[in-house]
Amino acid sequence: MAAALGDEVPLYFYSHLFLSHPELREMFPVSMAGQRDKLFAALGHIVSHADQIDEVAGFIGQLGRDHRRFSVTPEQYSMVGASFLATLQKYLGPEWTDEVAQSWAEAYGLIAKVMVMAAEEASDTTPPWWEGEVTAVERRSLDVTVLEVRVADGFTYSPGQSASVEVPALPRTWRFLSPANAPRADGTIELHVQLIPGGLFSTAAVRRTKVGDTVRIGAPVGDQLALEGSRDLLMVAGGTGLAPMAAIVDAVRQQWGEYGTGPRVDLFHGARVPWNLYDQQRLAELDSREPWFSYHPVVSDDATFPGAQGYVGTVAAAHPEAPRRLALVAGSTAMVGHTISELVAAGTPRADIRYEDYAGVEDNSSATGADQGEVYHEHR
Ligand code: HEM
Repeated sequence: MAAALGDEVPLYFYSHLFLSHPELREMFPVSMAGQRDKLFAALGHIVSHADQIDEVAGFIGQLGRDHRRFSVTPEQYSMVGASFLATLQKYLGPEWTDEVAQSWAEAYGLIAKVMVMAAEEASDTTPPWWEGEVTAVERRSLDVTVLEVRVADGFTYSPGQSASVEVPALPRTWRFLSPANAPRADGTIELHVQLIPGGLFSTAAVRRTKVGDTVRIGAPVGDQLALEGSRDLLMVAGGTGLAPMAAIVDAVRQQWGEYGTGPRVDLFHGARVPWNLYDQQRLAELDSREPWFSYHPVVSDDATFPGAQGYVGTVAAAHPEAPRRLALVAGSTAMVGHTISELVAAGTPRADIRYEDYAGVEDNSSATGADQGEVYHEHR
């Protein structure tokens, strides 16, 4: 429905919501151009999967805890629910029967309840967001900047998770970023931000964020990109999708250091052009030092590149051990979809492929993967 009607459906949803409850408008970003359907698209996807609540309850709980950064009240869940159902009613037309209405209402109520309860529980022990002090801003490559932030006490996350971040130069516009390191004793995290031309958040984060600034960080989310016991890993990253992988590699390095054993890791990082392989030096060094780690840079748009060329998913799927590894994938929606279909074609069981599915990534064999995942964060 939403796909066929483009922007019209989310536009109706937000107009309905803001006309009925104008006070909600200020919770949303000042500029909603181009990403109007962030909440609405998520609602459709999440609520339509309410029948799988047992499998997704963990994630929905994280989402509810993370929504505390918007200061959402339980009543506001009813307001959003009413506009959501009104939108479905309008666009489903004759398909909107009493029965359909009831099942969407039940599904919404269930998801909202899980989110609200998780938020209430978290409010006993944690703040709605954490403050972090920017301790370094380093332009790592032409288009990727690394922000180092020292986060206040009590912020805990697992390597591979992300957290929403707001910078003072652009209030109320949050982006999910993944710490690129395992938790450290001094509370510092490294965040990889790709500068996207015209991207409001990335411009503010890269060009208008300085050492000493205070950023806000929401509750960590994500339960897919993680170590599973000592299973050997095949990591496939596009652009700044490298960040969650780097955090897991960091954790694996600690494990080997402490216990002398751990999983073997092959990390494939895709970029369009060689100079966007922004962590090449560090990862190549790690590769030469650590027998358990192999780094595979992949470039799609530069025929002079001496290493592997093509889409990162295609190159990773050709690894002889791909069918037996636990695969972790992060990048843009197109890159993730393309990588999944390449891995499945190469014989990796679907159940062994992990990726975060915030907005409903489907595996899509027609995706070109042409952006190599370089727009990972700005588009989520
Ligand atoms: C079942 C109910 C809900 C679900 C499943 C849901 C889910 C989501 C998801 C997945 C996102 C995008 C990721 C993010 O930025 O965190 C989002 C964004 C957001 N949600 Fe919710 N949400 C729900 C209810 C609400 C309610 C009741 C409010 C408050 C009125 C709210 C306010 C927001 C805001 C302000 C954003 C950021 C929008 C943007 O940056 O464009 N959400 N929601």
